[in-house]
Amino acid sequence: MVPLFSEDEIAEAVGRLAARISADYEGRRPLLIGVLKGAFVFLADLVRQLSIPVEVDFVRLSSYGSGTETSGEVKVTKGLESEVRGRDVLIVEDIIDTGLSLSFLVQELLSKGPSSLRICTLVDKKARRQVEVEVHYVGFEIEEGFIVGYGIDYDERYRELPALYVVEKAP
Ligand code: IMP
Ligand code: MG
Repeated sequence: MVPLFSEDEIAEAVGRLAARISADYEGRRPLLIGVLKGAFVFLADLVRQLSIPVEVDFVRLSSYGSGTETSGEVKVTKGLESEVRGRDVLIVEDIIDTGLSLSFLVQELLSKGPSSLRICTLVDKKARRQVEVEVHYVGFEIEEGFIVGYGIDYDERYRELPALYVVEKAP
């Protein structure tokens, strides 16, 4: 595995995102929706850098099998417990790749009538997008490669690593 972003670089990116989010939502109490499992570390660090009160909930989507490519078919395997209607909702994602999972989640949430909906992701693989999604807060933009660490897995491994790595392709 090749180191991609260090703990310090991640902390700096998270701090930068938290400052922008705190300023943008000043005087409000947004509902942060973490997308499990990958976003759990990012969300935990992000909320602790915010200077505004928030509410936290989680959803779990499944689209990936055990490989590194999306199947394209998205399902909600753990739904929300919070009321979305009239709330300022901020989705917190680990990585946006094709955008398929996120556009599905966005449609789901919009149908519940939030007063606003924005997206925050730690990593954006913008060049790989198959469907358009508007992302407001991006930690790192990368071209390609399969990322692990800082909550993000490959086949349920490596979530515990404190930094981000790229899994090397087999020779
Ligand atoms: P998308 O639907 O293709 O945008 O992919 C969405 C989800 O797939 C992300 O939220 C991740 O959970 C997972 N994913 C995409 N790229 C990677 C990666 O490089 N490493 C680990 N998980 C990934
Ligand atoms: Mg994810």
